[in-house]
Order: sequence, then C-alpha cells, then structure tokens
Amino acid sequence: MTHWDHTPAVGLATFLTLEDITRAGSAFYPTDPDENGEPRFSLPHAQREFAETPVLKLIREARNKGYETICLPLTTEKWKERWEGMCLLPGVPAPELGVTESRESGSDRPEGEAAQAVGTEVSEDCDIERKKRERAEAAEQWRVRPAYLMDEVTITRLDEADGVVVMISDWLELDAEDDGIRHDAEIALKQELAYASYLNIHTAILPAPRNRSHAASYARIINNCLKNTPYIYLSVRLPIYNPTILQTQAIPSFPTGSSSGSPGLGLSPGGILPTPPLPSLVISPDATSSPTSSGISSESEMNATWEMWDLIRSICDYNTRLTLTLDLTPPLPTKLGVLSKWAAESVRYIFLPASTFIANTKGYPVLPKPTQCFIRDSMIHRPTVIFAGANANKHLRGGEAAYSQYIQFLEKTSPAVRNAQKAGSVENFAQGYQDYLQAPLQPLMDNLQSMTYQTFEQDPVKYERYEEAIFRALAEWPASERVVCCVAGAGRGPLVARCLSAINRSRRDVFVYAVEKNPNAYVTLQQRKQREWGDRVQLLFGDMRSLDIPELVDILISELLGSFGDNELSPECLDGAQRFLKSTGISIPSSYTAHLAPLSSSKLYNEARVTKNTESLETPYVVMFQAVNILSGEKPDPNGQCGSQIQECWQFEHPRRNAVLDARGIPLTNNHNVRSARLRFWIPHAGVLHGLAGYFEAVLYGNIGLSIHPHRKDQIAKDMLSWFPLFFPFKEPLYLPSNSELQVSIWRLTNERQVWYEWHAESFLTIPITPGSRDDLSSLQPASGISQGLASPLNMPSPLADDESFFSTNNRSPAQPQHHQQPSRSMTLSGLGHEVIKIGHTSLHNPGGRSSWIGL
Ligand SMILES: C[S@@+](CC[C@H](N)C(=O)[O-])C[C@H]1O[C@@H](n2cnc3c(N)ncnc32)[C@H](O)[C@@H]1O
Repeated sequence: MTHWDHTPAVGLATFLTLEDITRAGSAFYPTDPDENGEPRFSLPHAQREFAETPVLKLIREARNKGYETICLPLTTEKWKERWEGMCLLPGVPAPELGVTESRESGSDRPEGEAAQAVGTEVSEDCDIERKKRERAEAAEQWRVRPAYLMDEVTITRLDEADGVVVMISDWLELDAEDDGIRHDAEIALKQELAYASYLNIHTAILPAPRNRSHAASYARIINNCLKNTPYIYLSVRLPIYNPTILQTQAIPSFPTGSSSGSPGLGLSPGGILPTPPLPSLVISPDATSSPTSSGISSESEMNATWEMWDLIRSICDYNTRLTLTLDLTPPLPTKLGVLSKWAAESVRYIFLPASTFIANTKGYPVLPKPTQCFIRDSMIHRPTVIFAGANANKHLRGGEAAYSQYIQFLEKTSPAVRNAQKAGSVENFAQGYQDYLQAPLQPLMDNLQSMTYQTFEQDPVKYERYEEAIFRALAEWPASERVVCCVAGAGRGPLVARCLSAINRSRRDVFVYAVEKNPNAYVTLQQRKQREWGDRVQLLFGDMRSLDIPELVDILISELLGSFGDNELSPECLDGAQRFLKSTGISIPSSYTAHLAPLSSSKLYNEARVTKNTESLETPYVVMFQAVNILSGEKPDPNGQCGSQIQECWQFEHPRRNAVLDARGIPLTNNHNVRSARLRFWIPHAGVLHGLAGYFEAVLYGNIGLSIHPHRKDQIAKDMLSWFPLFFPFKEPLYLPSNSELQVSIWRLTNERQVWYEWHAESFLTIPITPGSRDDLSSLQPASGISQGLASPLNMPSPLADDESFFSTNNRSPAQPQHHQQPSRSMTLSGLGHEVIKIGHTSLHNPGGRSSWIGL
C-alpha cells in the first residue's frame, strides 16, 4: 500500500541509447592502439576490473541528474548483425562477393573471356553455396545453444545492471509474417531474457507489436517467456494509438517474407528487414478499415492498439508480471474519451521522447494540452516516465532538467494527486486502500470491533447529515407533543449523541431509546449514558427484530446501510423494528436505492481471482476504486434504448407497507425483500467488462440524504468517508465493442437464513440491415417482435431470440426504472432497418448464494 502524501506519484527514468553508450565508451577507452594493435589503457590490467565502465559512468551521471531508473538496450549492433546474418539471409549479400555485375554483363563479353567468366561464376556459386551452408550451420548451432559474444551485449557485470530496466532489441519481430523469422525472434528473445535474468534485471521492455494479424503469435511468445522466466517483469511497449490512423495517406507496411516454410531455413526473400523508426502498428487491411476520407478516424481505428493489448494480456491470462509501457511519441487526439480505457490497464511506464514536447513562448519544453491531460490522469497508476533524447538540446531553454521538472509540475497539478493530498477528502482518508478488495461488513451476523466503530466515527459528514435530518423532522413536529425516538443499532453511540444535539437545537420534549445487539458496544453505551446522557436516554440490549421496548416510537433512527444500500440487511432489521414504530411514525432513513455501472479494471479482476477459486470471483467486495474505467456512456445512447451511465436497480422504503405480518407484527417471510433489475447500458467505446460498480443513495429526511453515487455525492454528502463502492466481479472478462449494448441482470434473493445477490450480463450489437445483402424475409416485416429484433444477420435465432418470456416485464418492484425497455428494431432516418444481435454473455454468478451471502 502506498501513500501519496509521502511518495511522489511519478518515477523518473532516462533512456540511454546505444549511441550514448558508444560515445561514453570512446571517451573512456583510448582510440590509438599500442604497437600490438591493442587499446592503450592507463590502468594496469588488475585494477581495470574494478574501475568504472562506460555504462557505470553513464548510470552514475544519470542518477546525479535525478533519474531513479535507467533504461538501456541490452544488445549491441554487433548482435543484430550476427543474428540477421544467420537468420534473415538465405545467402551472402551479393555486393560482398562482387558477382552481381559479372552476372548481369556476362553476355556482352568475348567468347574466351565469357568461358573464363563461366568458370569463375561456377566457383563463385560454389563459394556462395559454401557460405550459405556455413551460415545455416551457424544458425542451427545458435538455435541449439544460444549465446552472446562479449561485444554483443552492453552490460557484462552485475553492478552495471543494478536498477536497470532493459529495452529488448527492438528489431526482433515477434509478430513477423514469416514463420521462420518469428521462430528465430522467439529464440533471440528468450536468449535476451535469460541473460537479463542472469544479471538480476527485474524488468524488460518489449518491442511493440507491429502486425495485427500476428498479434496472437506475439502474445503466445510473451506468455511462454513469462512462464519460463519466473521473476522478470515484462512490459509491452505500445503507442497509445496507431499514429498512422491520423494520417490520411495509406497505412505503411514493412516488407516481410512469405509465411510458408519451416523455421531456420532463412525464408525471408527480401534480405534484412528495415526496422521501423518508431513502434507503430501495421494494421492488416482485413483487420480494420482504412482511415476515412475526411481524415477523422473511426472509433475502431482509435482502438487498434488497445485491442492489440487486450489480446496480448488475455492470451497471457492477465499475468501480473505483464505490464504496459505507453509510448506517447505520437500527438494525442483531442477526443480524450476514447483514451479513458487506459485508466483500467496496468500502465507501468510512459515513454516520452523530447520530440513530443513543444516549446512554450519562452522556449521551455511543454507538452501539448491533450498529452498534459492524459499524463495528469495517468498519475493514478504511479507510472515511471521514461525520457528519451532529453540530453539532445532540442529546446532552447531549461536544459535536460526542464523535462523532468515539467512532469513533476503535471504531477502536482494532477486532480488525482491533489485530491489524495487534500486533508478531509475521501481519497486522502482512503490512502493505501485504493483498489484493495475488502470483504463487506456483516454487522448483523458479526459483532464489530471497537476499532471499526472508531473508523466510522471519523466521518465528519455522515453524522452531521443525520443530525440535520433529525433536527428537521423534530422541527416539523407539533411543538406541544412529546416525541419518542429510537436509535436502532446504536453502536458506540454517535447517533445517540447527534440525536440529543438535534433535540437541543429543536427545543422539543424528546425521549430516546438506544437499541444495540453487540454486547461489547453495549458496555461503551452504558459508559456514555452514565457520563454524558443521563436520564434522557434508555439503553436496550438485544436484537431489534425480537426485542420489546416500553412504548411505541415516533422516529426510528438507524444506520444499517451498506455500500449497495441494502447489503448489510437494513431492510430485514427494520422490518423487525417497525413493530415499535407508531402508525404515524417516520423512519430515518426513509428510503435507499442501489445503483450499478459496468466497470473495467484489470487490477481488480486480478485481485479477485488471486486465490483461483470460484468463491472469490462470486463475492461482492468493498473497494475504493482507482484504476478503473466505467464503460457505459454518460448519456443515454442516441437511440434512447439504454439508460444513463449509472443506473438505479431497486429501492427500499421505510416504513414498508407491503408485507404479511404474524401476530407479533413481524413479516411471515422475507419474500417482500426480494428484488431484481435488468439494466441496459450503452457502451460507446470498446472495452473489457470485469465487473459491476455498486453504489447507494439514501433519503434520510426530506431533502437530506447520503450518497456515494459518483455523479451526485458531491451535492448530497461531499467528503463523506464511511462507504466505498461495491465491486461485483465477473469470472470471465467480456469484450464489449464500441457502440454495443450491455444488459445486466441482478437479483437480490433470500431464504430463511440468508440474503444474497446473483448477477449476469449479456452483450448486443445493433447493426444496420443492408437491403438485399441477405436472403432475409424478416427484414421486410414490421419492426415489432422481440424475436425479430434479436435475429442474427444470418437469420439464425440468437440464443434468446425464441425466449420471449425472458424479455417480458417480470419485475415486480414498483421502483423499476423506466429505461428497462425491450430491444427492438429501430428505423434510421434513411429508412434502413437495424437489428440487434447477441454477441456474448457471462455465466450466472453466485447461483443460490453458493459463494457469498449475508447471514440473517
Ligand atoms: C453500521 S453500525 C452503526 C453504528 C452507529 N449507529 C454509527 O452510526 O456509528 C450498525 C450497528 O447496528 C447494530 N445492529 C445491527 N443489526 C442489529 C439488530 N438486528 N439489532 C440490534 N442492533 C443491530 C450493529 O451491532 C452495529 O452496532
């Protein structure tokens, strides 16, 4: 757990290039050789072993400049040359042998000379064949026993590797079209990682995937490396979006060899492949559409790199040693909404070349607005920013330090960091608990600890809201009447104290009962009565569902609320307490509602499945969200079929009116507290669903309430600390394309002993019906039936198409929001029909409360 107030959110790193290392080396070692052709060293051989090396010198200088992490390539140009010579070339380059010209001009020569030339060619051909064979043999030997020569690596000593992050050779094409090249790149990667591990290096940054059609191969290789190299962290370097998509010209492609053949045969016909200067994606034509003629990129194009990442981390089974290095080399689009999905990913590094900076009016380096905003928002990940080329004097003023200082300025002005540092804010209170999964409290079944009550009592807002609600209720009571209040579930007494304070303010004649079933807290209550409250309060020890109290009460005050409102069994407890409420009496709270939103967070997904058992993925958790992204659109979708970003599930009201009671006034069963909701969310940007975010809002009295609803909490109960949201995980991530619809079903169920939730989700896509594109008679029929609306484009019924009952309104809750409409075919203005096709679903979570429940 980390604390924002003591440690900076951002780490600083520098990227040292091969040129930097070569330059340091040439300054270090003498260039003039001695009489035997060996370099002349000023130190004798024995001392040289302990002297500073060029890499150590560079590292020391970088540390003096304030960089905590040093990134450098592990291999040299020498290795690249040898590997390419062995693995890319079918033969020896023609210029080396000088045969090209003789082959081309041979026919112009006199006969004798020509005959001689033929003889020479034969022997040269033999020579080429021999060299080819030698290289093929060398490659085979390397494949069996991969090893470097000393000058093929930049680091040779353990001390040189201390605190270093290595950049894996960026010319390795793990996603090459050519099977042979891919295979050899995999061997080379494993060799590099093995050497990095030997040097105790903890993190390696991988070259960016470049070829969408072989992204799965890239991912398979990374997965294999993660399995075979147990300790090292791998970080995939990715441009935040495909920079080519903002250009109107055609997407460039790098020449690659054929995909036939077997490994190791040198199949690339084109010789050495050019290495692209920047990591950029080549999206094969079948994978995405080309940029639109207007130059405005479509959502799917903007998503290309994220989808690549999603594929890679999914194939790697969300391995926690796999992280992201976001490359911010290309300028960011101004439409930042599409980038919000990176908030839910494990962004470990941000690669930032000096060339991304622009000069401000004074000549200092600053970042373009969208990049500034993105980096500020990225502070939640506590990333390390890797500067590249900061020492190249690209900007007039400020020198190398200006880049780091600017990023530190962005850190200070980041809303996330500011909130976390502001005393009294929820973020500050929650230090160290961000994205940490906690089992929800069960105050009915368990007896809370004094420390837990103490933490509650630190909340300055909750008790103030309660006092205000009680005060307003009393103020409206006829002044002549005696009022009886009951605090049901008094804990250590803070609501009793607030009740007395509201009574004083209202100048009413009020008597207070305080009920508590926790025997330990009851001791504290006795002490407070003796010292503070005296005869104004009568304590009653016992369960409010069965205890008798001396008289009926006018105002029943309770705080039995959970993050989802009803999840600490407030409805069930108040059902019992309602026995001693007068028929004219009121409850504070008078109602509460549960709310849901679909959420993406690889961090939370990984946390929930850490134990690898079903239970942990079928349990709702209390979580202070940080690295999460709410997937639903802020506004209802353009067709008006879906509801808003966060939607209401159900409501409980007190006093409740609809239960059948026994002779004691207690409901015969708990069936009236069963609820269900089916919510339709619009998903504007592609993302992966990992769970549901649960929130509550409560009306205490009149317009006084409590809320953790993200859009409403600041107006209703700003800086309230008592509740973090609830997280309902999904066992399997569900990919949701842009502009899709997510239907979430959630149930609150019960038996005599328990209450539990079950949840499930389905995804749908609305697609236009192109006239004449298919042999589909149903497209000619009016847009009315559900089954029509769910027909697949091939006219195959979707799994739910025939089950009309599924969509019939079976929800008995009166609080059911209006946006629970049926999916139906809609007509566009152009007159083309649309149809809804099902694209995926999750399993049903927690059936029968098998994994998680709340004890009654
Ligand atoms: C969430 S705590 C609130 C305590 C205190 N009112 C406050 O606001 O700090 C809920 C309290 O209600 C008590 N409680 C829960 N169910 C109860 C029941 N059925 N009868 C009596 N007390 C109950 C718990 O022991 C606990 O002290």
